[in-house]
Amino acid sequence: MKTVLITGANKSIGFEMAKLLAQKGYFVYIGSRNIENGEAAVSKLAAEGITQVEALQIDVTDKASVQSAQQTLAGKITALDILINNAGILGASPQEASTVDVDIIREVFDTNFFGVINVTQAFVPLMQKADVPVIINVTSGLGSLTLHSDPSWKFHAVKTAAYGPSKTALNAYTVVLAHQLQGAGFKVNAVDPGYTATDFNQHSGPFKVEDSAAFVLRYAELDADGPTGKFFSHDHADNNYESPW
Ligand SMILES: NC(=O)c1ccc[n+]([C@@H]2O[C@H](COP(=O)([O-])OP(=O)(O)OC[C@H]3O[C@@H](n4cnc5c(N)ncnc54)[C@H](OP(=O)(O)O)[C@@H]3O)[C@@H](O)[C@H]2O)c1
Repeated sequence: MKTVLITGANKSIGFEMAKLLAQKGYFVYIGSRNIENGEAAVSKLAAEGITQVEALQIDVTDKASVQSAQQTLAGKITALDILINNAGILGASPQEASTVDVDIIREVFDTNFFGVINVTQAFVPLMQKADVPVIINVTSGLGSLTLHSDPSWKFHAVKTAAYGPSKTALNAYTVVLAHQLQGAGFKVNAVDPGYTATDFNQHSGPFKVEDSAAFVLRYAELDADGPTGKFFSHDHADNNYESPW
């Protein structure tokens, strides 16, 4: 049975992706920094008849937690097929470039950028045994420098000095990671779910969480000919969902 780890899967987009993948026959490890919340997510799925899921404590900012999660998984499975680096935070507001507290920027980068690297480095060895290992880094349109430079972009005015740059850095890491792992057959992409109604934005986004989860998963089941080192966005249906960096 193919296996998946999703960070921050106790709720919102991560939870919906766990549900969809389990329904498709994958065994899904529901990463949750708070294990009780992860167990509650498992119970919620069990109530819907979905049982191929297990909670895994993993705080992406805590190296000891990531290592412990890696050891737990290495003791249960021989290969991890899909890793979805989904956990992310917006950080405190305001995030005005000239006044934002540097500690807010550090906190956001700790989760959205360094956290992804912590998790990826820990799990790549276990993924090398998968047929076509897939890594999805869940990013945001707010990480696109090209779109931020375009005054006609619908989110042009949404400038955040911590969140946006953390996703720009994540995009850069995605490119170098995809390049390094290409020879080993990995597919590594940055995928933006689009502005989605979740706790992240007090449910203000226009996209439904189910649709955004399904969108991100378009890039989870890739074969050897699938794309790697790309940036896909729910907002770019016009361009086969490919986004400018
Ligand atoms: N919603 C949008 O409009 C939107 C748009 C573009 C991109 N995104 C990206 O999509 C991803 C998911 O967003 P969402 O809307 O589902 O957000 P959400 O509702 O705020 O859920 C975020 C998830 O990440 C977890 N998390 C946060 N910090 C963590 C840490 N240090 N270690 C492990 N887990 C951690 C949260 O856990 P707790 O429950 O413990 O807090 C929660 O499970 C994020 O990367 C976000 O940047 C969202």
